[in-house]
Amino acid sequence: MTTLIIGGTGTTGSRLASLLPDARVGTRKPVRDNHVRFDWDVPATFEHALDGIRNVYLIPPIGVVDPVPVVEALLARARLVRRVVLLSSSAVPESATGMGALPALVRALPEWAVLRPSWFMQNFTGEHQLAAGVRAGEIVTATGAGRVGFVDAADIATVAARALTDPLPHNTDHLITGPEALSYAEAAAIITEVTGKPVRHRSVSTAEMTERFAATLPRDFAALLARLDEDIRGGAEDRVTTTVPDVTGRPAGSFRDFVRQNS
Ligand SMILES: NC(=O)c1ccc[n+]([C@@H]2O[C@H](COP(=O)([O-])OP(=O)(O)OC[C@H]3O[C@@H](n4cnc5c(N)ncnc54)[C@H](OP(=O)(O)O)[C@@H]3O)[C@@H](O)[C@H]2O)c1
Repeated sequence: MTTLIIGGTGTTGSRLASLLPDARVGTRKPVRDNHVRFDWDVPATFEHALDGIRNVYLIPPIGVVDPVPVVEALLARARLVRRVVLLSSSAVPESATGMGALPALVRALPEWAVLRPSWFMQNFTGEHQLAAGVRAGEIVTATGAGRVGFVDAADIATVAARALTDPLPHNTDHLITGPEALSYAEAAAIITEVTGKPVRHRSVSTAEMTERFAATLPRDFAALLARLDEDIRGGAEDRVTTTVPDVTGRPAGSFRDFVRQNS
């Protein structure tokens, strides 16, 4: 076991763990043989989780405004680690502090890749607020007619697996999208067509979206998420890249296929 998958029980990490069965999975609640206790809130867990590790899939701590100090603390203990693949986001610009400062930490290593996926198709399923909208028949966003290159987490995991195991390090940023950009109304129409259950999209203002998110999330995080919707409305995510076929040799999964597989 020379690879550690942080967030290895999560959306991308669990799919990556299936692709790399010899990897060690970091989790706060280890239950399997290949699990190791890893908790961003307990730095004492870093040393043991990193023992003998050369490659790391790094999902930063979730919901932390400035993850830089704790990620620096991890990297300082990662003496044998040569390669880190960081999960960032297409929606996170480079910045001096906060999430946007993490790519610079990783690029200082000898071998690295920064994954910048667009919005996950998996947001339409499971526990996400959007998924609750799908179940209720109405998706509410502040994205207007803006389009998003929704990507299947399985494709992100396949890119991550290549970035971790290819003999030559990628040493680049990978902007990862699905094969087409869709508005939420177009996504709702595809769900309706495939499942036969009517789902519509309603666009609201950024202020109203902030209030909706704030019902279940801290207000500053709610405002941040609503602003990301506003960026989408302005066209920030209306793009398609060829990263998945270029890196994996396979076409990226379509939204329609994703809905078929998950309904
Ligand atoms: N959703 C999107 O559309 C989207 C788009 C682009 C980028 N992203 C990025 O994807 C990442 C998360 O995606 P997600 O929402 O699907 O989450 P997720 O991968 O399902 O995240 C949950 C994972 O984080 C682990 N975790 C939570 N708290 C932890 C802690 N204190 N210490 C160690 N591990 C901890 C959980 O492990 P245990 O519970 O087993 O400990 C679990 O494996 C974020 O960094 C986000 O920026 C998301």
